[in-house]
Amino acid sequence: MDKLLIAGGVPLAGEIAISGAKNAALPLLCAALLTREPVTFTNVPHLNDIGTMLRLLAQMGVKVNRENSKIPAGTQSVGAGDALKEVPLGDTVTLDASGLNNAVAPYEMVKTMRASILVLGPLLARAGEARVSLPGGCAIGARPVDQHIKGLTAMGAEIAVEQGYVHAKAARLKGARLFTDMVTVTGTENLMMAACLAQGETVIENAAREPEVVDLANCLVAMGARISGAGGDVIRIHGVEVLHGATHRIMPDRIETGTYLCAAAATGGEVRLTGTSSAYLDAVIDKLMDTGCEVISERDAIRLKAPPRLTATSIRTAPYPAFPTDMQAQFMAINAVAEGTAVIRETIFENRFMHAVELIRLGADIRIDGNTAFVKGVPKLDGATVMATDLRASASLVIAGLVAQGETLIERIYHLDRGYEGLESKLAALGARVRRVK
Ligand code: UD1
Repeated sequence: MDKLLIAGGVPLAGEIAISGAKNAALPLLCAALLTREPVTFTNVPHLNDIGTMLRLLAQMGVKVNRENSKIPAGTQSVGAGDALKEVPLGDTVTLDASGLNNAVAPYEMVKTMRASILVLGPLLARAGEARVSLPGGCAIGARPVDQHIKGLTAMGAEIAVEQGYVHAKAARLKGARLFTDMVTVTGTENLMMAACLAQGETVIENAAREPEVVDLANCLVAMGARISGAGGDVIRIHGVEVLHGATHRIMPDRIETGTYLCAAAATGGEVRLTGTSSAYLDAVIDKLMDTGCEVISERDAIRLKAPPRLTATSIRTAPYPAFPTDMQAQFMAINAVAEGTAVIRETIFENRFMHAVELIRLGADIRIDGNTAFVKGVPKLDGATVMATDLRASASLVIAGLVAQGETLIERIYHLDRGYEGLESKLAALGARVRRVK
């Protein structure tokens, strides 16, 4: 299993390009199931989760064509050397679901990636039937999909959970008024996709307002869907008979953007991130400014300059536009070395502090009480061997390793490969001393 070796203590400096958003790409690829015509996506990030989704779609009979058109991420930077060659190519993906012949998402695939549940709505709407394995829990919490099932049932689907699979049937879904018990991102996306081909109007109340939901809605509209209100908490979808092909550019990854901003902040660095926008990151940028960082938004780029030492800043995670749970771990890392004490409250997932114990191994002073972490900043961290437990926890360990004195070895970095394109090469382009150890 690959490990990441980081020699800390170098302030990050320079410029890198941000990749397309994983969490936008995953539902978008599933949207291609809704039409017989080819759909082309550009700015598709090269990530293990994307590979898993493409394999899942391929075994359903979807033709997948991936073109090697991408300029390696981070090329604008100097000094990256050979590291850039590691960045894989292929950012344009065309999916042709005209030959869809197997509406099944098997356990072996779903268990490696919970977002596989996103095929449920589109499959049911297009094929009238779907068998999708229940995702089960994961490291950060139970993460049930009851709201997806409740919504589709309200649209007239007959749903049975048998042998670990959701088996759903509906000759044609019917528009309905849907209300989710909590704000769910993939739940909103699944129901919005299903509603596109339903008979009549669907209204999703308490909808997720995440920018990735809006990106999906924009693509669906380009495919002929009639959707209004995406980005707000009430989305209206007027079902149509068929959707057609389209070409869609995937939005920049706001969590990748935020992660590099945090890495630069924690190391006292100065970076410019291109191909991204602060428009999706208000809550995160606000907090970075509270720590004393100077953040300048350009049209398609963000610049950050960190002070010699950061000031602690408290956060509370909540659905968009509030502070994202996917940035919580990274902020724990920067607070670990800030001046003062921060209170971090996690309200979305019940078990999302596993990085805390690893940060403590690097010398951080953190106390956990239920869903609240108290982080007292220390002047320095010391390198050690740590273990990555989930995607964003891994990112926080990378940030801590970049700050720590001496060497930090991060084990189980397959989590990082799920969600950060070309991580080592991008960090190297910013001057970090980082190496993948096989
Ligand atoms: C998405 C993101 C993930 C992010 C999360 C919260 C993708 C592929 N993943 O995950 O990176 O951390 O949003 O911003 O976009 N819940 C239920 N029942 C349901 C659905 C959700 O109880 O049917 C609960 C979850 O357990 C969780 C909360 O609702 O506590 C929010 O989860 P949700 O927004 O659905 O997360 P995902 O869409 O899985």
